[in-house]
Amino acid sequence: MSEKENKVIIDPWGKELVEDYTRLIKEFGMEPFDEKMFPKPNALMRRGINFGGQDLEVIAKCIKEKKPFYVLTGIMPSSEKIHLGTESVIQNVKYFQEQGAKTFVLIADVESQATRGVTIEEGKKRALNFHIPAYIALGLDPQKTIFYFQSENKTVSNLAAICAQKVTENEFRAIYGSVHPAKVISAFTQMGDILHPQLKEAMPGIIPVGIDQAPHIRMSRDVARRLRQEYGFFPPSAIYNKYTSALDGSFKMSKSGEEIGKIEIPEKDMKSLEKKINKAFTGGRVTKEEQKTKGGQPEICVVFEYCKNHFIKEDKILQKMFEECKTGKNLCGECKAKYGIPYAKKFFEEFDEKFEKAKKTIGKIKFEN
Ligand code: TRP
Ligand code: SF4
Repeated sequence: MSEKENKVIIDPWGKELVEDYTRLIKEFGMEPFDEKMFPKPNALMRRGINFGGQDLEVIAKCIKEKKPFYVLTGIMPSSEKIHLGTESVIQNVKYFQEQGAKTFVLIADVESQATRGVTIEEGKKRALNFHIPAYIALGLDPQKTIFYFQSENKTVSNLAAICAQKVTENEFRAIYGSVHPAKVISAFTQMGDILHPQLKEAMPGIIPVGIDQAPHIRMSRDVARRLRQEYGFFPPSAIYNKYTSALDGSFKMSKSGEEIGKIEIPEKDMKSLEKKINKAFTGGRVTKEEQKTKGGQPEICVVFEYCKNHFIKEDKILQKMFEECKTGKNLCGECKAKYGIPYAKKFFEEFDEKFEKAKKTIGKIKFEN
């Protein structure tokens, strides 16, 4: 393979995802994640779901020295449901919010219009009715969060224009694989998002993302360096969480997951949720005897992965699930009945309850523009 073919190009708007995290860390110049850097590490940090980052020590230092920094994320209002991977991102945003970060959450209505054809009006409606209350239900403190719509934030669009001057066509193509106009407008708007808090106050910021967003981080970091002299920008730090597999164990985001359905937020029908978990790919052995003697393989089990990444937040319970699998105490059916199904139900029932509460407070939210 030639040097070029060998390069990892991630398309943030595509469906394929990378499986090889070690290679990604190298290609993208990431640091492997080290939980010891941060006080009171969250479940994602303790469990290796956060696998890498960039300039994490800059953020660790801000936390330690109580210096100002920010955390920022964006929501695509085009999606009808929220991916479980996004839940991981929100847990990380919540973590940094609790460590004192100024918190920004934007509605990517410009990107949704450009890449998905969802009108700005429709995007706004969906965000207010679903995405914003959902993010609050998943753990954000609305009183400590600055929300805004890309389409309404002039500082962001002006900064996008400034960033656009600093990137050549070839560079853009090398990072994103294409120079499609919709991608160009979305990528520069996102750079505006990521860097704009620094216009008001020079401070480092951290962007928690799934690996699909890695190209945006790379480009924003390059552009921040190029604008450093004029604007004093810090290259944004990033923390990356691993992607949750599809129910059938594949690494595709949708397609192959379609036959057995996929689990997304919200999940209203508990019967169908139960069915999905029962059909999920496990690390069970071929025969009962084999499982009793050798134990199961939680390392490759999707039920375990979902519990670890999302449904079971208490380490002790997850540890028990792991041990009972490894020692052959539980067969997969028993394990699903004891852990997979009840904890998934608990997760979604709690979500619904918090979502309904959050919806009632939506009128009080102030938006930045
Ligand atoms: N592109 C992101 C997505 O597809 C949404 C987004 C827009 C975003 N601006 C951002 C994410 C800034 C992180 C930071 O989900
Ligand atoms: Fe997965 Fe549970 Fe089966 Fe182990 S016992 S392989 S954790 S379903």
